[in-house]
Amino acid sequence: MEKIKITKSETSKSKPTTDQLEFGRIFTDHMFIMDYSADKGWHEPRIIPYQPLTLDPASIIFHYGQTVFEGLKAYLTPEGKVKLFRPGKNMQRLNRSNDRMCMPAIDETLALEAITTLVSLDKEWVPSAEGTSLYIRPFVIATEPYLGVAPSKNYQFIIILSPVGAYYKEGINPVKIAVENTFVRAVAGGTGEAKTAGNYASSLKAQEMVADKGFAQVLWLDGVEKKYIEEVGSMNVFFKIDGELITPALNGSILEGVTRSSVIDLLKHWDYPVNERRVSMEEVFEAAKHGKLEEAFGSGTAAVISPIGELSWNGESIEVNGGATGPVARKLYTTLTGIQTGKQPDPFNWTIDID
Ligand code: COI
Repeated sequence: MEKIKITKSETSKSKPTTDQLEFGRIFTDHMFIMDYSADKGWHEPRIIPYQPLTLDPASIIFHYGQTVFEGLKAYLTPEGKVKLFRPGKNMQRLNRSNDRMCMPAIDETLALEAITTLVSLDKEWVPSAEGTSLYIRPFVIATEPYLGVAPSKNYQFIIILSPVGAYYKEGINPVKIAVENTFVRAVAGGTGEAKTAGNYASSLKAQEMVADKGFAQVLWLDGVEKKYIEEVGSMNVFFKIDGELITPALNGSILEGVTRSSVIDLLKHWDYPVNERRVSMEEVFEAAKHGKLEEAFGSGTAAVISPIGELSWNGESIEVNGGATGPVARKLYTTLTGIQTGKQPDPFNWTIDID
């Protein structure tokens, strides 16, 4: 494995105070970058001062969106150690997305070493306040200058770091979600399960149309019948109906969330009945009308656990759990963030320490 060359920044930017922390607007002093060419494969892994990229305007990324990304977080423990949460799962998904987008696989051990070396170099940037962390954004872009529609012959793998607070301004307080009936995010056979930019660009219109009515996000339905629940776009979803915890089964158009899988493992560990299955909007609304919709919440790396306090569909609105955070969502949030920040035991060995 090629050694990562490090060029340190001569200056350090000033670090944000806790109240300046939003999601994804501030970046640390360094970044990781590595090139790919058809003849050399992935080569020249390096850490350099954070800086703009220089790319040919004909680069394939700008025209046909051949790109994938990941999102994971580093957390500070009360003892001042830095931890990562299940980074191996992100690296596996990065390569599944790479494969779907005809992009070259990256050695997962090298990718993980790139993350740990970069985070370790910028570890002063990991914020310490409750609910904050250092968001890690690895991404791959197609850099060959070519206007033909074909997989690029050149790529760059880049990692940037951003100290963050809560993803939604509501924090752990419940968000309002609008169920989307016109637009769809993905269909089976499309790119829904890959973490690729186009899925997110295509979600903007629906979100923009409801944002001024106070909705934090839209809930996507299946692309064929617009009946079955898929995901929120920045998170997977769970419902608690009459004691059963339900999350939409992976079907090729839903992103396989790392937090989703951790939530399922925790719920099983606590002996809750949890099922990955198809769940329709009608089932959720019927349950709500009969007083059986006990909780609804989203799960994601950026969002952690985000309770849903209100769902609006076809001009009707339902309140979930009186618009308040439910006990299961709260327990999941406390346990997940407790494990991530080393404040609670980690029975599943999900975290790794960075020196
Ligand atoms: C994450 O949770 O890390 C995501 O990638 C969602 C993102 C689009 C903010």
